[in-house]
Amino acid sequence: MSGALQTNPIYKKYVIDDNLRYFKPHSTKIEKTFADEICASLAENSKYINPKFFYDKKGSELFEKICDLSEYYPTRTEIKILKNLKPDLAKYLDKSFRLVELGSGSSTKTRLILDIFAQIQNTIEYFPIDISEILTESSELLQRDYNGLKITGIIDTYEGGLEFIEKYDDKKNLIIFLGSSYGNFNPKEGKIFLKKINSIMKKEDLFLIGLDLVKNKSILENAYDDSQGITAKFNLNVLSRINDELDADFVLNNFKHIAKYNEKDQRVEMYLKSLVNQSVIISKANISLKLKHGELIHTENSHKYKLPQIEKIMKETGFEIKQNWLDVKKYFALTLVSKK
Ligand code: AVI
Repeated sequence: MSGALQTNPIYKKYVIDDNLRYFKPHSTKIEKTFADEICASLAENSKYINPKFFYDKKGSELFEKICDLSEYYPTRTEIKILKNLKPDLAKYLDKSFRLVELGSGSSTKTRLILDIFAQIQNTIEYFPIDISEILTESSELLQRDYNGLKITGIIDTYEGGLEFIEKYDDKKNLIIFLGSSYGNFNPKEGKIFLKKINSIMKKEDLFLIGLDLVKNKSILENAYDDSQGITAKFNLNVLSRINDELDADFVLNNFKHIAKYNEKDQRVEMYLKSLVNQSVIISKANISLKLKHGELIHTENSHKYKLPQIEKIMKETGFEIKQNWLDVKKYFALTLVSKK
């Protein structure tokens, strides 16, 4: 651990044992950001909530359930591709790589990549970056199954975690960003984010990204409005989180989950629709919110791509494509890139 980081005032360091430690920003930073962002985004005429706020502990658990739904094809499709790319990906790695994962969640897919590392290295270094503390549970589970795995968890935003990595040391990084999480950025923010990744990467680093591809509208809408109502609970949970953390009085039964595919913008849009005229107080964000019957709060965009679009985005953000992997139905793509 470099001396500079030990005294980095942004992070608190938690050492669990020789092979497991976490870094977390001081809590005041996170609370302030949440209240400020909610205050601004719900004061707009077109109200919205940033989807990054879905992932408190409950939201992360609901997302794990979504990943197991029969309608939600992205997770199992990406896992299938990951299983097949093992020998191919190994060719790009050597003993001096560490694994860095953005948005690690429960780290299920990580295991498939760690298996590749385990064939090459005796001591594997893994740096998961996730805003949710679910990271700590999944890290402990991973440690039980992988001997010689050294985990440094960063409980922070992607940008915060990337800056942490940049300052850390000179080791080569394989950065992975799976699950089509990139699709939750709007195109402009997405490119800024890719440029950020590019800017912290060294010439020898690699970046593997999973992206969902354009497909039939009904497959897409069913994936985001499942028959068991798990995605609806996931969407509504963001209001519970605001109630708990920002001292608000949203009544969840006064809202309905909506998911629609917007073909022009190639994205599934999720909303919370107000079922009545209502007002809601969010004390810690200093808002008294008025919502009309039928009014929508936009909670998520999930963009879908075509392969030539992926190639164009990568080129525009300073990357060079090493290899693309697809499933047989061409539902999902994994793309490996390096810095141009
Ligand atoms: C995390 N992200 C990639 C998921 C998606 O598919 O956009 C979030 C999600 N929202 C509803 N279902 C899943």
